[in-house]
Amino acid sequence: MIILNKYIKYLSDKTKNEPFVDRLKIKFRPLIFPIELLLSYIDKNDVIFDIGCGSGQFALLAVYFKKIKKIYGVEISDALIKNANDLFKKHTIDVAYNFTKFNGKELPKNINLCNKIFLNDVLHHIPQKNQILFLKEIFNNIDENAIFILKDIDASSLLVYFNKLHDIVFAGEVGNELKFTEAIRILKEIGFKIIDTDKRNIAVYPHYTIVCKK
Ligand SMILES: C[S@@+](CC[C@H](N)C(=O)[O-])C[C@H]1O[C@@H](n2cnc3c(N)ncnc32)[C@H](O)[C@@H]1O
Repeated sequence: MIILNKYIKYLSDKTKNEPFVDRLKIKFRPLIFPIELLLSYIDKNDVIFDIGCGSGQFALLAVYFKKIKKIYGVEISDALIKNANDLFKKHTIDVAYNFTKFNGKELPKNINLCNKIFLNDVLHHIPQKNQILFLKEIFNNIDENAIFILKDIDASSLLVYFNKLHDIVFAGEVGNELKFTEAIRILKEIGFKIIDTDKRNIAVYPHYTIVCKK
């Protein structure tokens, strides 16, 4: 909790002008999300690409706590892209960043200039019938030496229903979570090599993280 306080305090200071619900979602995300683990995969010379970057809070934490100098991201929501770019304009110096619109299908070509690619809690927002195609799009567009980090919610845990409730309340949709083992199977079938995995429950959310190489 003491460790997480520093993330909550940092995000709280940076989001004072956001609407109330957005602020709560951003500020308290570290309490329900394996932020320490995900940041531990980042080194200061990394060039990061964050797919489905939301309001840019993960990107901002990566810049502040891991001292990275280049970070890019895509989002399907115009409002969230604006949040992310505004947040960076106000609160970063000496960082190359760009958060752009994504049509949900074709990734921008600059993804292959990045060596760590994150997909944090986005896969379960994609319709099940498109998930494999989406992961293949990532595989086909990233650099051959890049690391891909997939973080999502494990459908094999009964706690998945808390995430479904969360998404109904905050996103107005029911998530399409995969089982951890199914995600591994799909990634391997696409051609990814699994180099690390993690499963942990935080609060009432059952997280899995899979780190892969092309
Ligand atoms: C639960 S939020 C996670 C946001 C951020 N990655 C984080 O961990 O804080 C899910 C995000 O995925 C975005 N999203 C949904 N479908 C997407 C798609 N097809 N491509 C990219 N982003 C998508 C949503 O707009 C939303 O910002």
